Amino acid sequence: MDQKKTPLFEALKNHVQKSPFSLHVPGHKSGTVFSEKALLYYKEILSLDVTELTGLDDLHEPTGAIFEAEELLSNLYGSYKSFFLVNGSTVGNLSMVLSVCGANDTVLVARNCHKSIMNALKIAGAKPVFLSPEFDTDVQVPTLVHEKDIIQAIEQFPNAKAVILTNPNYYGHTNELENVITYAHGKGIPVLVDEAHGAHFGVGQPFPESAVKSRADIVVQSAHKTLPAMTMGSYLHFQSDFISLERLEFYLKSLQSSSPSYPIMASLDLARSYLAEIKDQGVTELYNQIKEYHRHLSKIPQLSIVVPRDKKIVQDPLKILLQSRSSLSGYELQSLLEKNGIYTELSDALNVLCILPLAPQDLKRFTRRLGQVLAGVQSLNEEKRIVEFNKLESNFPHSYFELKSKKEKLVKIEESINQLSAETIIPYPPGIPLILQGEVITEAHLDQFMMLQRLGARFQGNGSTKNINIYDCD
Ligand SMILES: Cc1ncc(COP(=O)(O)O)c(C=O)c1O
Repeated sequence: MDQKKTPLFEALKNHVQKSPFSLHVPGHKSGTVFSEKALLYYKEILSLDVTELTGLDDLHEPTGAIFEAEELLSNLYGSYKSFFLVNGSTVGNLSMVLSVCGANDTVLVARNCHKSIMNALKIAGAKPVFLSPEFDTDVQVPTLVHEKDIIQAIEQFPNAKAVILTNPNYYGHTNELENVITYAHGKGIPVLVDEAHGAHFGVGQPFPESAVKSRADIVVQSAHKTLPAMTMGSYLHFQSDFISLERLEFYLKSLQSSSPSYPIMASLDLARSYLAEIKDQGVTELYNQIKEYHRHLSKIPQLSIVVPRDKKIVQDPLKILLQSRSSLSGYELQSLLEKNGIYTELSDALNVLCILPLAPQDLKRFTRRLGQVLAGVQSLNEEKRIVEFNKLESNFPHSYFELKSKKEKLVKIEESINQLSAETIIPYPPGIPLILQGEVITEAHLDQFMMLQRLGARFQGNGSTKNINIYDCD
């Protein structure tokens, strides 16, 4: 197929060029009714912000421009069928999980999955068996679930409805998934992959392969995270012999707006074509430039670029994880950078994560500025770590369905050890829950919680150090 084509964008452009008179939703009437002070910023985009007019197709029943655009998407990634999503990977994750499980169904889930997966499991009432990712002591973050642990879990729970993995993780660590997927399929179990951070995968070496290539049954990608697409624009790829396409489509239609944004959808069409062009041209120039940033960044003594020790883990070149080599925590480092006009993706206790553009761009100004900002900060040698976290094992004895009928009570945090947490505590970003609702609270959980608080982490859910809701199991 001709990947240069952008059928949805063309249809939208043709419509706008007719200077049409709008007697339809949305109420801004192509930007003619809008706040004066904001019009300068919104004008162009409002002209594209229309609805399901003749010639512009319908996301929920595509037969025209959207159908063609989704076919091009499916062709590029090599899926059986691909979908545009207008509510982020969040809606993709909700739909893919709900399409495989219901109340009390066992599913094998990577413990470091995004809250959208957790929420889907909760809505379904499923019984998750959480698989703990390895903890990398250099990077000081959870990386990925080990292949042998996934295979062992499949052996232990042969009736599981699905394996649900996050690959890459937020930090751009990826694993080869082909073995696990082949093994799971051999047992009749589908594999769902949250590839939110990997929409650009498959552009060529040294970028990792997409899980679509490894034959995962459903793969969800936030196009807006690493491709030039608008925020919330995402893709879902389907290629399963185990999952009902109708059931998946039911959830996609139910959970997404009946008025999907045309600027977002057209940007997904453009982003797909952009990716195809990069794939054709090759990534040598881009990769050389990334190596150049590495060279510049490695000269700053207050920082080091960290990658996992495990050689099987492939680091996405678009992500650079800078670890503090000073008395500053990752949070403090990020805040210092922000005071100097440098905005990064996230910070954690030790690290700051940068996401690079999928285009050769001169970032010398950024690396130089970074060096200047940190010049006054005293560097420390490598041994002086600020924190030491460890791998967290997860014990989740009930299904979310069973938890619904349990009563809750508030207890002092130090009395909560060995109790079932009735709340989820999420350091944000990266949005990976530290304690899950339904999980047995351990001393290790509380140690991490306290340490993160001391280091200035932000939390969704309970941010109090004093009390926590537990299930009253007496
Ligand atoms: C691993 C992962 N999955 C899913 C999501 C949700 O993606 P979106 O923001 O596109 O809804 C995120 C968001 O940060 C994420 O990090």
